[in-house]
Amino acid sequence: MEYTNLLLQHQGNIAVLTINRPKALNALNSDTLSELSAALDELGRDSSVKAVIVTGSGEKAFIAGADISQMKDFSPLEGRRFAQLGHATFRKLELLPQPVIAAVNGFALGGGCELSMACDIRIASENAKFGQPEVTLGLTAGFGGTQRLPRLVGTGLASELLFTGDIIDAQEAYRIGLVNKVYPLESLMEEALKLAQRIAGRAPVAVQLTKSAIQRGINLDLDSAQAYEAEVFGLTMSTSDRTEGCTAFVEKRKPNFEGR
Ligand code: HXC
Repeated sequence: MEYTNLLLQHQGNIAVLTINRPKALNALNSDTLSELSAALDELGRDSSVKAVIVTGSGEKAFIAGADISQMKDFSPLEGRRFAQLGHATFRKLELLPQPVIAAVNGFALGGGCELSMACDIRIASENAKFGQPEVTLGLTAGFGGTQRLPRLVGTGLASELLFTGDIIDAQEAYRIGLVNKVYPLESLMEEALKLAQRIAGRAPVAVQLTKSAIQRGINLDLDSAQAYEAEVFGLTMSTSDRTEGCTAFVEKRKPNFEGR
């Protein structure tokens, strides 16, 4: 499918999804969110895609937030609908079968920070900046930031960021565990692709079940989550990748996974 505000490209079995409104620093308006939702449906159906990278167009911004020019005239109902559209879209991203890496290549503010937090893994360029500046605009975070930021960095740090609207740099984001790695901007995509390819080389069904156990389990109590993990583990016994992976280990050779 062709998109106006997105680029969806494929490099072998890796999909690269680029938010493409560079003139507005890739700000998310409702059209872009709707396109993102459609692109995620497309990716979720495509079993040839083993990992997804999300990034922003240009060298300045990942996503500078939800579109302020659109939000400034919202009625309460429109605001609620916009937040719900973001919630549904980011949840779809979070529950996409394939693992998703956010390659944060600049400003990740407000909705941009929130989108990155709905990805499984975040890596950042040295110039990346993170923050939830909604309170500086008379708004609250509305695409899951009040929920995902505390889960990722703890309530104290999240509260400070959400109450002050302070912007932090990539090193501070790394220090607090918001991003896994920081790279020079020019090598960010190469590193994202390398990581995606490492993941894509593992048993695909096992990777997808692992993601499901993490994402479903995190919202359950430990006993329910472990019961789900046991079901997921049991399910891997039905895959030919289990036979291949374990046999390859015993035969001291590299496994050749087929994703079934
Ligand atoms: C709409 C935006 C935008 C945004 C930037 N632009 N961010 N448009 N929504 N979030 C536009 C600018 O208006 C400008 O357009 C162009 O992009 C370039 O931006 P500049 O400000 O000129 O660039 P710079 O001086 O380098 O500053 C970069 C910046 C700044 C620090 C990132 O743009 C900024 O503070 N942006 C807003 C960040 C923010 O507050 N995000 C949170 C939004 S609230 P023109 O036409 O003038 O060239 C949010 C809520 C989510 O995300 C939940 C909703 C339910």
